[in-house]
Amino acid sequence: MTILKEILEKKNICKSIWFMRQAGRYLPEFREIRKKNPDFIKLCLNSELSSEITLHPIKRFNLDSAIIFSDILIVPYSLGQSVKFIKKSGPELSNFNLESFLDVTENQFSKTLNPVYKSIEITRKKLDKKKSLISFIGAPWTLLIYMLNIKKGGNKEVDITKLKKEKTTIDKILKKIITFLCVHIKNQIDAGADIVQIFDSWAGLAPVEDINEYCYIPNLKIVDFCKKEKIPNICFPRGIKEKYYEFNNIVRPDGINIDYEVDPDWVRKNLRNVVIQGGLDPKKLLASESEMLEGATKYIQAFKGIPYIFNLGHGLLPETDPDRVKKLVEFYRNFDE
Ligand code: CP3
Repeated sequence: MTILKEILEKKNICKSIWFMRQAGRYLPEFREIRKKNPDFIKLCLNSELSSEITLHPIKRFNLDSAIIFSDILIVPYSLGQSVKFIKKSGPELSNFNLESFLDVTENQFSKTLNPVYKSIEITRKKLDKKKSLISFIGAPWTLLIYMLNIKKGGNKEVDITKLKKEKTTIDKILKKIITFLCVHIKNQIDAGADIVQIFDSWAGLAPVEDINEYCYIPNLKIVDFCKKEKIPNICFPRGIKEKYYEFNNIVRPDGINIDYEVDPDWVRKNLRNVVIQGGLDPKKLLASESEMLEGATKYIQAFKGIPYIFNLGHGLLPETDPDRVKKLVEFYRNFDE
């Protein structure tokens, strides 16, 4: 049994560490490959290279889990939208077209994503048996934001007028996308992944009065699917502050990744019947070494005596020094609780 499975299913207290965005731009070996592959989506769909990138951080830091190298936007891509990554301004998707979106069949969708499943197969064979291979999806609300381009104001809010105007379209998208996300999860697990993480990176932008409809219910439907299929799952509803409590009680995932805005002591008291993951601000890896280690200590101590998966409160930043990551891993491994 892999380490994460042991924690998530059996609630065993094991030491376990991995990082969101552990494969990526802060690693020179990734930048080297990326230079030669200007089309990011194509790179995600290159099974051999994607597997190689997935294993970069495992080779360097001997982490307990690998997360498959892909992107949450591969799903809108497989449903007909082209995806470009513009330096500094982030991802840009071509205009959403409801008809072509509704036209894509499950078979076509799985076929486009087949290289991801192939990459999982290759990676599983190369990965130590005790290590987990994590698959992932973007939660429906976070995908919707990119698909309909409804973020504004420097990523701090959504365009409410547009959201209301697109309501009928949104209802149709949600219905289909939940089904297809479940297909993508199942395919990744069948290919050899053993965990799924559900990234709701923009959950904090859901209007308060609609958080049930856009965040809780879609996450719940996907978690219920995972439970039915016995797939260990971790949710990451980033930015919802004290609503982590409500989210956890409604969605009831096996694991929950906390962000750095929620206090770990509050989390320990208020999030029950769930395995906690993450929390440390990725900016701490850019600060002095002592500040980074102090930050890490706070989380390790807050979750002493209960199952806890060490990770961050968001992904590793591109400007992170890989040696800092190494230091943090060593510190965690040697920490005497
Ligand atoms: O190492 C891993 O975590 C596995 C691979 C992974 C990527 N993206 C690779 C990637 C994972 C799990 C993701 C998830 C993802 N993608 C999320 C959820 C997590 C989060 O950070 O909130 C989101 C919102 C996206 C969408 C996305 N993809 C954005 C906003 C960007 C551009 C800026 C950025 O954050 O990197 C991407 C591109 C992307 N995805 C890169 C990588 C390595 C950088 C591509 C490049 O080289 O330019």
